[in-house]
Amino acid sequence: MCGIVGYTGKKQAAPILLEGLTKLEYRGYDSAGVAVSDAYGRIEIAKAQGKLDVLKEKIDGGKTMHGACGIGHTRWATHGVPNETNAHPHCNDDSTIVAVHNGIIENYAELKAKLIRRGYQFYSQTDTEVATKLVDYYYKKHGEPLKAIAEFSLRVRGSYALAVLFSDYPEEIYAIRKDSPMVIAATGKECFLASDVPALLKYTKNVYYIENDQIAHLKNGQTSFYNIDGDPVEIPLTHITWDAQAAEKDGYEHYMLKEIHEQPRVIKDTLGYFIQNGKIDFSELNLTDAYLKSVNKIIIAGCGSAYHVGVAMQYVIEDLARIPVRVELASEFRYRSFISDGKELVIIISQSGETADSIAALREAKSRGLKTLAIVNVVGSTIAREADFVFYTKAGPEISVATTKAYSAQLVAGYLIALKFAEAHSLLSDGQYRELLSELCLLPEKIKTILEKDTAIQQFAFHCMDKKNAFFIGRGLDYAVSMEGSLKLKEISYIHSEAYAAGELKHGAISLIEDGTLVFGILTQDELAEKTVSNLEETKSRKAQLAVVAFEGTEVPKSCECVFYVPRTDARFAASLSVIPLQLYAYYLSVSKGNNVDKPRNLAKSVTVE
Ligand code: F6R
Repeated sequence: MCGIVGYTGKKQAAPILLEGLTKLEYRGYDSAGVAVSDAYGRIEIAKAQGKLDVLKEKIDGGKTMHGACGIGHTRWATHGVPNETNAHPHCNDDSTIVAVHNGIIENYAELKAKLIRRGYQFYSQTDTEVATKLVDYYYKKHGEPLKAIAEFSLRVRGSYALAVLFSDYPEEIYAIRKDSPMVIAATGKECFLASDVPALLKYTKNVYYIENDQIAHLKNGQTSFYNIDGDPVEIPLTHITWDAQAAEKDGYEHYMLKEIHEQPRVIKDTLGYFIQNGKIDFSELNLTDAYLKSVNKIIIAGCGSAYHVGVAMQYVIEDLARIPVRVELASEFRYRSFISDGKELVIIISQSGETADSIAALREAKSRGLKTLAIVNVVGSTIAREADFVFYTKAGPEISVATTKAYSAQLVAGYLIALKFAEAHSLLSDGQYRELLSELCLLPEKIKTILEKDTAIQQFAFHCMDKKNAFFIGRGLDYAVSMEGSLKLKEISYIHSEAYAAGELKHGAISLIEDGTLVFGILTQDELAEKTVSNLEETKSRKAQLAVVAFEGTEVPKSCECVFYVPRTDARFAASLSVIPLQLYAYYLSVSKGNNVDKPRNLAKSVTVE
């Protein structure tokens, strides 16, 4: 949700900033801007509405801007429509203080009114212009960037990753964050700052994650960190294992297709890391058997696809480990006064580890004294840092806004956690345990066979280009996958789609079925398949067009126009296979409609606002 970058070093800053923003464009793409400062502190700003390419063209790839220090921004609008005036960077009246910001200043209206009373004028509708002018106000009061930023942080409510240039301090960047991500790196010659690691990977894999309300000062290839009292603080260096290549398209037309095809590798890596000598090894997580035994209830919270993983995990954990599980939308969790006996484990699922609602759910759980386990992909992210236990998925950087490989890695994390609980509660014989682990290890090869059937899925997707409505239905775990298939379709193809528990359709939504409505049935749970088939037939009688994803050998309705068979596996792991054709279907439909697959409209990869 907005990406910010910063650079100070010996090279021209603008091309480096644009390159960094390209890697962050998944975070927001309705406008972009950069500010570059020269050695005398003269700051030049360029902004453009629309995708980053518009800005790139406007400043000729950065060649028209001169200076070795700068900041940049790619925007996902919160306050004010996407236009050039609202685009960042924002500045004070004489452009001597210039800032970019990711987050939301909640009390911006009140602060703006105060600043207006003190003679400030505003030109944009943004909270960031207010933030910038507030820093200006305190800078004029204290005459020191550090004090100005510290006082700014005391006055604002909300979230921010803020990077500021002061023309009195040429070639230096000051930055602060609260509840919005920021990574910082220094190589001795250059310093970098970004909302996310992919923007830095080309230059370094050693980064600093600053904590809330810590201030960073980037100068002469070195960084210093301070708390808001101005005392120096030490921040440990974190080594990133992702390589720069992992954040490239690698010859695929879109990141999404590349990431779909990476799933066998991602699952293999995640399993390979956590299964050692035929046993699940959670020593890295510090989850002891004694603790696992003491957990009497599990609450899972996440947003969007991460929530869908939670729904699937609920079935698997309850079935294998016999522990009651409740799944919550992270955005709702903190608004319920849930009843707790203090022994629940709260599992937060998040690819980015920066989703504002999921962070809030985690903090709510912690404030109630509950232990928290995070399933996270991004090392060092807020959720990873704040949770008691962390399961890092091994998906590597996910760039496409619509998640695929991170979803799959989270599912596998869920299976391993379920099995670990089952083991700790002595619910599985050695034979069953071994069998389930070897079944898991076969998933990557099975996914490869599904990916090979790509052409049939592509053809069917092209036939569906004009669809206006779709339903995804299933029972049990097939319902969990329906939710994900439906979300994938709607977010990138813009076709209205709903997921329904198959048996629920007849209680209302069936009235929406008409001639040609697409109904996708998921049939991997043998004992439920017959019933879902009946529900599909009910829609066929109302002239729906049927398609099905089914385990090989399943009886499917004769009237299905398209059947995608997936190899059999243990029914509890079926989601890992049945989701693949649905991802490919959504992808090809989006391509056939000429949509921007990797950056669908109105969305952003990391939702750091509530
Ligand atoms: C859908 C999608 C979103 C995310 C959701 C949570 O394709 O990507 O629904 O799953 O925004 O994001 P994370 O996992 O980063 O917390």
